[in-house]
Amino acid sequence: MKVNIGITEKNRQAVAVALNQLLADEHILYNKTRNYHWSIEGPSFMEFHKLYETQYTELAEIIDEIAERIRTIGHFAEGRLKEIIKLASLEEPAAPTDQASQIANLDSDHEVLINKLDFVTGLLKQHEKMAWMLRSYLR
Ligand SMILES: [Fe+2]
Repeated sequence: MKVNIGITEKNRQAVAVALNQLLADEHILYNKTRNYHWSIEGPSFMEFHKLYETQYTELAEIIDEIAERIRTIGHFAEGRLKEIIKLASLEEPAAPTDQASQIANLDSDHEVLINKLDFVTGLLKQHEKMAWMLRSYLR
């Protein structure tokens, strides 16, 4: 079906590709966080068991937001596990059971996503500023 939301098909396609890659990484991080929720061992078991559950629940919401954004711009969200693994940039090392390794691994994955999103947010701000400067001439 044709989508007319003020973004060209070419741009929507490019955004959908980027969002599907982000979606894949969020899936990996979701799955890893849930796996750690199951496998955590040690004196702080319950604290981390609960923290991981809170975080994978939040990641599931993020996943849904991204997937539905892709549908909003007229494309399909990649939902097949094999394809998700191919698209993702995050790694899945053998699941550690100790809290220090788990935290270090999750933290590093969040940092990868933060860096990617920071770049996009930076571009967004640049475009907003350029658009504001251009709009200022219309008064
Ligand atoms: Fe559980």
